[in-house]
Amino acid sequence: MIRREFLARTLSAAVASLFARGVFAQHSMHDMHGTSGMSDMEDMPGMPSTHAAKPHAGQPAAKLAPETALPAGAPLAALRKLANESTEPGVFRAMLVAQPVRRQLMAGHSTSLWLYGDAAQGPIVGPLIDVREGDNVEIRFVNHLPQASTIHWHGLPVPPDQDGNPMNPVAPGGTHVYRFTLPQGSAGTYWYHSHPHMMSSEQVFRGLAGPIVVRAADDPLAAFPERHLFFSDLKLASDASIAPNDVMDWMNGREGQFVLVNGARRPLIAIAQDERWRLWNGCNARYLRLSLGDKQIFTQVGTDGGLLDKPRDGLTELLLAPGERAEIVVRAGAQPSTATLTAAVYDRRKMTMTEGSGLPPEPAKPLADIRFEPGAQAAARAVPQTLRHIAPLLSSTGHADGNAPQKSVVFTEAMDMMAMHRPGASMSALPPGMRFLINGAAFDPARIALTSRRGEVEVWSIENRTDMDHPFHLHGTQFQVIEREQGGAKTPEPFLAWRDTVNVQPGQTVRIATVQRDAGERMFHCHILEHEDLGMMATLKVV
Ligand code: C2O
Ligand code: CU
Ligand code: CU
Repeated sequence: MIRREFLARTLSAAVASLFARGVFAQHSMHDMHGTSGMSDMEDMPGMPSTHAAKPHAGQPAAKLAPETALPAGAPLAALRKLANESTEPGVFRAMLVAQPVRRQLMAGHSTSLWLYGDAAQGPIVGPLIDVREGDNVEIRFVNHLPQASTIHWHGLPVPPDQDGNPMNPVAPGGTHVYRFTLPQGSAGTYWYHSHPHMMSSEQVFRGLAGPIVVRAADDPLAAFPERHLFFSDLKLASDASIAPNDVMDWMNGREGQFVLVNGARRPLIAIAQDERWRLWNGCNARYLRLSLGDKQIFTQVGTDGGLLDKPRDGLTELLLAPGERAEIVVRAGAQPSTATLTAAVYDRRKMTMTEGSGLPPEPAKPLADIRFEPGAQAAARAVPQTLRHIAPLLSSTGHADGNAPQKSVVFTEAMDMMAMHRPGASMSALPPGMRFLINGAAFDPARIALTSRRGEVEVWSIENRTDMDHPFHLHGTQFQVIEREQGGAKTPEPFLAWRDTVNVQPGQTVRIATVQRDAGERMFHCHILEHEDLGMMATLKVV
């Protein structure tokens, strides 16, 4: 295809040029500081902005720690839980402090992370916010980072001015109290993470993300013991420092050599009875095609926004794009056995710098070892055949061509040669000239891309005209996927579910039905956080 080749060619020219700038930038850093010990500067205020000017092809990239550098095999740690400081019923009041924390992850070395809370021990994941429908939530955010930050409540219908938009930064040393009420029907599996303008990638890969569970009073699965698996990605240099993004990380989205489950590499999970698992893909860019092996079937019971209407039985795999969550029921079985929770091969069409070729997908990666140890009285628990009632947002699902207002979102990529050659651009946090766009434009905090009316159900067509997968995410609401169109063939979504994140493959158009309840500004973006920082984000104004 002409378009593909054109993009490949402009991209390879652009990246070649970026490498030249990278070498230049590194030399200027040496001149300025007379040392090659750039990792010494890691904790200094303002210094993170030099990360993009660090290693590039043409000179040795940061040497990474081997995959065995982190210990494996410890029992899966329970998540830390954020304590409720309030004793009033229906009020959840707490504090989250974002701060640099030193932890020994690799024997004999310390790693500087950015975490919510001081977490001298326990999982290097933000604490679990465990709340109930109807709760009034009040969280005091204190920013002890050397740069601005926000907290975004991914997936929750919080008021727009409480949602941690990049337009509402909390300065270093600053404080902000986020307040929202969790409506009835919002029970589900959510998460929170920082969302500052152009710095989400770095803040999240340094550790600023954590899980949220909203519970319903009438949960049909309340009898199942619950297990939480929060997946995150970590890229460590051989000296145990968190490696900066290189050009390939910016282009394809960052994937480290480690995938952590509740902050640890390849933990051990022992299952004595049927369990309900909540799964979070908190990775910056890694897709998780989760499997327990061909013979180990499980049941999906929920998506981002809570329970399905009917369980999906007999699954052997489940794809979670970055930002997505799911709930599954895993059976203990009748006999002792073992399995490996694996991220199976998924080709998201990563790009290379050579025309006409793509990177091969990552090989399958073991995430956790599972030991099924059914107890004597571990009778199988039934999953109800109706979990709840989900009303379709459109009267006739399967067809997106009703009277609902239509909106179009188009993902493209572009290389801006002018910007790449502008003097001084090499000192920017982001690689100059590499742009990922929505409807032809990169994110501008001052620009409104789309306008919607409060309470009005709309159909959005999200079209991916790039060469790789991008996960689409819309703030402030849960939507329903109606159909996916590829090469003219439309596939109606086979089940009803509430989501806030959906993957869009190259050449695909995904249609969703969505409605916003509050007036204000909402973000929508690719949830590969490097792409989001590079401009694949836009603002929806709700009036
Ligand atoms: Cu996880 Cu803009 O969000
Ligand atoms: Cu979000
Ligand atoms: Cu993307």
